[in-house]
Amino acid sequence: MEEEGKTNNKKIVIAIDGFSSTGKSTIAKKLANKLSYIYVDTGAMYRAVTYFALENDFIGDDFFNSERLIENLNEITITFKYSDIKGFAEVYLNDKNIESDIRTLRVSQFVSPVATLSEVRRKLVEQQQLMGKDKGIVMDGRDIGTVVFPDAELKIFMTASAKTRAKRRYKELLERGHNLSYEDVLENVTTRDRIDSTREDSPLVKADDAIEIDNSDLTIEEQLETILNLAAHKISK
Ligand code: DC
Repeated sequence: MEEEGKTNNKKIVIAIDGFSSTGKSTIAKKLANKLSYIYVDTGAMYRAVTYFALENDFIGDDFFNSERLIENLNEITITFKYSDIKGFAEVYLNDKNIESDIRTLRVSQFVSPVATLSEVRRKLVEQQQLMGKDKGIVMDGRDIGTVVFPDAELKIFMTASAKTRAKRRYKELLERGHNLSYEDVLENVTTRDRIDSTREDSPLVKADDAIEIDNSDLTIEEQLETILNLAAHKISK
C-alpha cells in the first residue's frame, strides 16, 4: 500500500486551491516531491505579471493602467526552472530569476487587481493547461479545480481562519527580513480574500467535488499524510 504512488504508473492531476496563505504551496511542493510529480505554483505566475506591471509603471499606489498592461502582455514570458539548492522550481520572468522579488508585500498588494483581468487569466491558464497535459502534476492556485483542470482526479480546497493565515505569512515575511506590521499583513490577507472571491472571471470558489481541509490546527505532516492517502487511492483506481 505504501508504495502505491511509486509503483503504479498511472499519473493524475492534483489541484490544490484555497485562500491566500493557507500553506498550499508548502504542501503541494512536498506532495510533488513524494510522488515525483511536477509542481506548479500558479500564484507565482500572477505575481510575475504583477512584478512586470510594477516595474513598467502600469500599476502603482493610486493608478492602474490595465490597458497598457494588456497591450504589453506578449512581452512577458514566464518559465520555471528547478533549483537543486531550493528543491523546487523557481520562477523566471524573461529569463530573470524573480523568485524572491515576487514574495514582497508590495507585489501581494497589487496582485489581486492584476489577477482580475481576463486577458491575463487567459494567457496564464493556457500555459498552465499545457504544463499539465501529460498529468503527473500538482498545481496550486485559486481556480485550478474549477477552470484550469475541471477534470482533475484529486481536488483539495484548503482553508484556515484569516488570523491564522496572517500570523503564518507575517512570521514568514519577518524571517525573510521584511520590516512590516502584523496589521498590514492581516489587512492584505483579508483584502485579497475579498477580491479573489468576488471577481467576475474565475472567482475563488470550492469546486463541488473538492475535498475541503481546514488546516488551522493541523501540522504539515498531518496534512501531507491525509492528501497522500487520498492521492494513493486515486492512483490505484
Ligand atoms: O497563491 P498566491 O498568494 O501567491 O497568489 C497570489 C494572487 O494571485 C492571489 O491573491 C490571486 C491570484 N491567483 C489567481 O487569481 N489564480 C490563481 N490560480 C493563483 C493565484
